[in-house]
Amino acid sequence: MKQILVTGGAGYIGSHTAVELINAGYEVVIVDNLSNSSIDSLDGIEKITGIRPAFEQFDLVDKDKLENFFTKYPNIAAIIHFAASKAVGESVEIPLMYYKNNLVSLINLLECQLKFGISNIVFSSSCTVYGQPDQLPVTENTPRKDAESPYGNTKRVNEDILKDTIAANPAIKGIALRYFNPVGAHPSALIGELPLGVPANLVPFITQTAAGLRSELKVFGNDYDTIDGSAVRDYINVVDLAKAHVVAVERLLENKNKSGYEIFNLGTGNGVSVLEAVQAFEKASGVKLNYKIVGRRAGDIEKIWADTTFANEELGWKAETGLEETMLSAWLWEKRVRGME
Ligand code: UD1
Repeated sequence: MKQILVTGGAGYIGSHTAVELINAGYEVVIVDNLSNSSIDSLDGIEKITGIRPAFEQFDLVDKDKLENFFTKYPNIAAIIHFAASKAVGESVEIPLMYYKNNLVSLINLLECQLKFGISNIVFSSSCTVYGQPDQLPVTENTPRKDAESPYGNTKRVNEDILKDTIAANPAIKGIALRYFNPVGAHPSALIGELPLGVPANLVPFITQTAAGLRSELKVFGNDYDTIDGSAVRDYINVVDLAKAHVVAVERLLENKNKSGYEIFNLGTGNGVSVLEAVQAFEKASGVKLNYKIVGRRAGDIEKIWADTTFANEELGWKAETGLEETMLSAWLWEKRVRGME
C-alpha cells in the first residue's frame, strides 16, 4: 500500500483528502501542527473510513523534526502539501509570519525530498494568483498578477519555488492545484470546515448566521459589474476537490504527467454571485437567512471563475456536486458541530 504524507491533514481540505486517499487504497500519514485545526478531525476520518491515519504533530518550519519524520517514515511515496497559514487579513498584519510559515515549510519539504529521495509533491495553490483577470473564465495560462496580500504572494512565490526546484532537479515532479473557493463538508457531517473565531469566508459565515451564532450576514458590495451586483466566485465542493488530489497523486505515481511541473485549475466552471449563494443555501436548508448589503470589502475582486477544460481532459476529473447539495452539506456539518441535531 503506497504511503502518502498529507501535511495539514487535520485541516479542512486536508481531512477530506485523507478520506478520499484512504478510500482509494492509500495509507495516509498526517503531519499537522494543529495551529488552525483540531485533532478531532482524525476521529471523523476514522469514523468515515474505518481507518485512523498515522499522525505526527509538529511544525514543518522545524527542519530537524521534519528530517526525523522522514527517517521514521522511509516509505513515503508522495507528499500533498496543504499546511499553510491562510487568513488574508492576518497576513497583512503579520506578513513575516506568513512568509516564514508558508515559504520555509515548502523549502524544508523540497530539501527533504532531495535528501530522502521522494519524487512526488502536490501543492495547494489558489486562484488568488490570478488577481482580477482581464478575461474570464481563467485558464491555467491566464497570466498571474501581483498578489493583493502577503498570503496571496506566498502562493505565487511557492509556485515559483516549486517550478524552479523541479527545473533544476528532474528527480522531483510536482503538481500545483489552484483551488477556486472550496466549500461544503463531507456528506456524513463528520468532518468539515471549523474556522477559529469570526469566519472571514462566506459559507462558514452563512451557516453560523443560520445557526444563530451571528446576527446577520453582511454581503460585501452590490455595485459590481455582475448579474445582481454582488461579487462572483467559483464555489467548488470540498469532496470533489479532495478527489482531484487523489487523481493528481496517481498521475505522479504512474508517471502520467506531461512535464515535471504541471498546474491545474480546480473549480466548477460556474460563476456564482454572493446573493445566488445565499439563495442556494436558503433553498437547500429551508432556513431564511438574515442578511444585509454593505459596502465592498477591501481587497476583494469583482468576479472570477475557472475554465476547467484542462483539468477535465488531462486529469479526467470533474466537479460533480451541485451548489445546493454542497450548501446542504455545509449546513448539516454546522448543525452537528453546534449540537443542533
Ligand atoms: C478569500 C481570499 C483568497 C483565499 C481564500 C481562502 C480575499 C480577498 N481572498 O477568497 O485569497 O484564497 O479566501 O479561503 O480575502 N463575502 C460576503 N460576506 C462575508 C464573507 C464573504 O459578502 O461575510 C463575499 C466576499 O466579498 C466574496 C465572496 O463572499 O465576494 C467569497 O468570499 P470568501 O469566502 O472570503 O472568499 P474569497 O474572498 O473569494
